[in-house]
Amino acid sequence: MTVLGIETSCDETAAAVVRRESDGSAAILSNVVRDQLDLHRRYGGVVPEIAARAHVELLDAAIAQALDDAGLTFEEIDAVAATAGPGLIGGLIVGVVTGKAIALARGLPFVAVNHLEAHALTARLTDGIGFPYLLLLVSGGHTQLLAVEGVGRYRRLGTTLDDALGEAFDKTAKLLGLPYPGGPEVEKLAKDGDASIPLPRPMLGRAEPHFSLAGLKTAVRQAAQQRAPLSDQVVADLCASFQEAVAEIMVDRTGRGMALYLDQFGEDAPRQLVVAGGVAANQRLREALDRLCHAQGFTLHAPPLALCSDNGAMIAWAGLEHFARGERDDMTAEARARWPLDPDAPPAIGAGVKA
Ligand code: KG4
Ligand code: ZN
Repeated sequence: MTVLGIETSCDETAAAVVRRESDGSAAILSNVVRDQLDLHRRYGGVVPEIAARAHVELLDAAIAQALDDAGLTFEEIDAVAATAGPGLIGGLIVGVVTGKAIALARGLPFVAVNHLEAHALTARLTDGIGFPYLLLLVSGGHTQLLAVEGVGRYRRLGTTLDDALGEAFDKTAKLLGLPYPGGPEVEKLAKDGDASIPLPRPMLGRAEPHFSLAGLKTAVRQAAQQRAPLSDQVVADLCASFQEAVAEIMVDRTGRGMALYLDQFGEDAPRQLVVAGGVAANQRLREALDRLCHAQGFTLHAPPLALCSDNGAMIAWAGLEHFARGERDDMTAEARARWPLDPDAPPAIGAGVKA
């Protein structure tokens, strides 16, 4: 089964081809990502209208390249999958319309993919793990702990009451004068820094595995103001201190998530933690989670760096997982700016619009 995947939910224009053999083994045949960083950098963040226009310009060539790299033509593709949400609506529309147009023109089935589900299922492509597992999803727009019970079956255990983790990295970077996207910059500078600047650990020890990250960013701002003008060393120390606080918070909250997961699925449930989303690229976070997993008898599954940030392979794979179950969408499928994985999750107390 061979699926073409299209991703346009944010600022990466991506297309990929993924194949699953009848024995269950899977391979990424191509994975083309055209980032738009040069277009957005001077604004310090993604400008939705610029992103949508860039997707229009870049997507056809990305798809042609993905087929070419895979050595395939449309005739050899079994289904087309495109991210339909959540994300920036202009870009989503570009991807969905393109995916549906290919499906119509080529007589292929179409699958509308949830971007978060694609992050969630990537570990099944890379590591072949079975259900259930605990998922820590940390991206620019989301920070959630979810029990993944099966394809399309998610139970949200925790979410952020305010900023997402990637957003906290990006805002921290911005206030320190570092370029966008800030996550990788903070990580790079933190290597030369000393985590000696005291910062709070919001939500530590709370029973429910929710997150709150806006206060941490504010604390970095105050610490920076107190130390202005900032030397390179102090910037590095702030980055290191922020990253340490994040690692400690994530370990504490994920530990609570593990306990809830075992409560719900039983002590004999597979002890598997998947970390996914752009921030899963952070090595310090991976180390901290690795240690937690060792202590709790869990295995840690973190996708390779290229599959942490947004890409088409994860969309193709999520589409394939649905398609293999006989599921597909018709031409009425629409782009959706909001599309929660667990629509039945009660609102977290104190949560803002992002929960
Ligand atoms: O999943 P993703 O590529 O896009 C969304 O769906 O949001 O995540 C992007 C986020 C950005 O906030 C970026 O700063 C963050 O992931 N990020 C990192 C690192 N690499 C990317 N944050 C911390 N450390 C990194 N190495
Ligand atoms: Zn993402």
